[in-house]
Amino acid sequence: MRIKEAAAARLKQLGVELRQGASLADETSLGIGGTTDELLLRNYETIPEVMRLLADEKIPHRFLGGGTNVLIADGELPWVILHLPTAHPGMRVEGNTAYVDASADLGGMVTFCAKRDLGGMEGLIGVPGSVGGALRMNAGAYGTQIGPHVREVELYRAASGNIETLRGDDIRFDYRHTSFAPDDVMLRVKLELPSKPFKEILAGIKVCNEKRRSSQPLNQKSAGCIFKNPAGGSAGRMIDELGLKGHRVGDAMVSDRHANFFVNTGKASCSDMLKLIEDVRERVRSAYGVELENEVIVWRN
Ligand code: EPU
Repeated sequence: MRIKEAAAARLKQLGVELRQGASLADETSLGIGGTTDELLLRNYETIPEVMRLLADEKIPHRFLGGGTNVLIADGELPWVILHLPTAHPGMRVEGNTAYVDASADLGGMVTFCAKRDLGGMEGLIGVPGSVGGALRMNAGAYGTQIGPHVREVELYRAASGNIETLRGDDIRFDYRHTSFAPDDVMLRVKLELPSKPFKEILAGIKVCNEKRRSSQPLNQKSAGCIFKNPAGGSAGRMIDELGLKGHRVGDAMVSDRHANFFVNTGKASCSDMLKLIEDVRERVRSAYGVELENEVIVWRN
């Protein structure tokens, strides 16, 4: 979607930078996604005004964070993309409390806190993406989830048009699911973390990194796990047992390293990837009677 000149001029007055015709394939870990205009916000405080302007001008929009858990449609997209400022995300520690901007890199936050002797998030070290994305999905790995550490989240609520603060206790964090509204935009988080010597945290981080390296295709284009694990089961194991590693649609392929990772081996399109997802879902349904639910977020046009 292209922003008209008049709207672009109004956005510029709010300090919003316009990037025309951006390719989202360059901004997602899957390397898949069409083209659209992008808006780069200067600070969080202008969000309500920018959102009012977009509503006024009837410009559909979506916020993109780290782009590591999303499968985006091909071609010219019917919405513009908004980006929070990412240049110098705020990170600060006071006692056992960490204050972090949502645009910060998740791994960067884990390391920042570790260097200040705050642990508890070792398992999250290799999870790619932003802190905001991790909050929205309640990212987790190796027995750690971000949710239990959250004390407060500052967010833009489309429903009220305001920036609000939610208490951790008022947010539900489930397995790869939270009670945030789909159009809530994460801005900042306050976390409470246990004290732990840096050296001990580092040892934990090393173990997780090794486990991840030995089981996941880290040097290939993917969005991590495609499906959530069904209650009491493992999507990766089921897909593997069906002999589907290496199964492909065009350049979209079930990883031969971890069967719940689908990789883009070249120029896979969104429709290739969607077809592969549906093929595998169908194979698992007919073999096991289990309906796998997407873990990856799909943005169709
Ligand atoms: N397995 C196979 N074949 C495979 C893959 C896995 O047999 O191709 C078996 C493993 O041997 C193991 C079991 O399935 O016995 C579980 O595998 P793994 O330990 O790799 O964990 P997972 O359940 O597949 C989950 C998360 C990952 C997270 C890891 C580590 C989900 C959907 N996935 O994977 O998260 O990194 O545990 O904690 O919950 C993600 O969210 O994108 C993601 C990758």
